[in-house]
Amino acid sequence: MSYTRALRCRKCGQEYPIKPINLCDSCLSALEVSYDYEAMRKAVSREKIAGGPHSMWRYQDLLPVEGEVIDIGTGFTPLVKADNLGAELGLDQLYIKNDCVNPTYSFKDRPVSVATTKAREFGFRAIACASTGNLAASVAAHAAKAKMPAYVFVPHNVEPGKLIGAAIYNPVLITVNGSYDDVNRLCAEVAQKYNWGFVNINLRPYYAEGSKTLGYEVAEQLGWRAPDCVIHPAASGLSFTRIWKGLGELAMLGLVEQVNTHMFLTQAAGASPIVTAFQAGTQHVLPVKPDTIAKSIAIGNPADGYYALQVARQSGGGACAVSDEELIAGMKLLAQTEGIFAEAAGGAVIAALKNLAASGAIKRNELTVAFITGAGPRTQETVADMVKPFTVQPSLESFEEIVGVRV
Ligand SMILES: Cc1ncc(COP(=O)(O)O)c(C=O)c1O
Ligand SMILES: [Zn+2]
Repeated sequence: MSYTRALRCRKCGQEYPIKPINLCDSCLSALEVSYDYEAMRKAVSREKIAGGPHSMWRYQDLLPVEGEVIDIGTGFTPLVKADNLGAELGLDQLYIKNDCVNPTYSFKDRPVSVATTKAREFGFRAIACASTGNLAASVAAHAAKAKMPAYVFVPHNVEPGKLIGAAIYNPVLITVNGSYDDVNRLCAEVAQKYNWGFVNINLRPYYAEGSKTLGYEVAEQLGWRAPDCVIHPAASGLSFTRIWKGLGELAMLGLVEQVNTHMFLTQAAGASPIVTAFQAGTQHVLPVKPDTIAKSIAIGNPADGYYALQVARQSGGGACAVSDEELIAGMKLLAQTEGIFAEAAGGAVIAALKNLAASGAIKRNELTVAFITGAGPRTQETVADMVKPFTVQPSLESFEEIVGVRV
């Protein structure tokens, strides 16, 4: 039993029944799931959640699904107090939400678990997605678990680790000669013609809700309080908006006292249309042609850019772009201070955090959560320059001659 009420247009407010649709007929804006919060409030409590499974599904009452879920063990990931990194950056209360340790190594398992559950509820024969890399693996894995066929579309230049990471689950894997924005356009056409559940197209309103669990989990792990500051990488901008929605719901349901969280987003400078709009003070996110090694967040025409911009502004947060050099340095700094190997999107988070702390936009005493949304081993090539081993003969003499005693 769920507390889902309707789909609601984010712009004109028109309501639609719970169906696999994502755009408003009247104004073509995005649809969002709305709930009966009165009824939900009576059903949920901190204690009930604490007694739930050690996965994102402990928050099932706050998610738009009806029955049995497709769960590959997603969520309940560590929130690590990052004292070493905090000391480097001048932040006394820094936490890392390590979502690298999800089953397919990125936070995408959260939205996909909800979307594939919904695909089965709606009776789709196949599950599909347009992906920058991480989503492909997640959709393929969930389809395997659900025993459904999967069609995953990625740009032709996706990193080898991401291709293999999807291929292992044996989906129909399609590489498209074009950018992610081209992949997305093609998938919108395919979705019109074929009766498949595209997790980030016709199932997008449900898919989006899965990212709320990032906000819920962090608040619960902090002893039921919202952070002062959050920093998260934005591609389409969708998950950033849903972390904000999730925190707001906790306050509405009386699970946290208040939410005064400043929401900061980061993008790679080579694909930063949301940051550009933020800095220009406009409402319009103008499309760009992506050019960055951070391929998982290389979206030139972000579907939820407008809403992400609003969240950054309304929450008193911000938006920060970082160069490829900065984000690579961010990956190394995170690994070498906290022992966490993030992919390029995580490097962008750390690099942006460094800039925001240095400029005083995030203050030393503010409780800050940095979301690390994808794992490094999938994009190893970005930091291959770190491999500089000493090569020795298998003798003590050779070891001492070449390496020497260093401590
Ligand atoms: C690792 C990682 N972080 C963040 C994002 C951003 O997601 P969104 O499109 O919701 O902004 C993505 C998107 O693919 C991703 O792969
Ligand atoms: Zn509308």
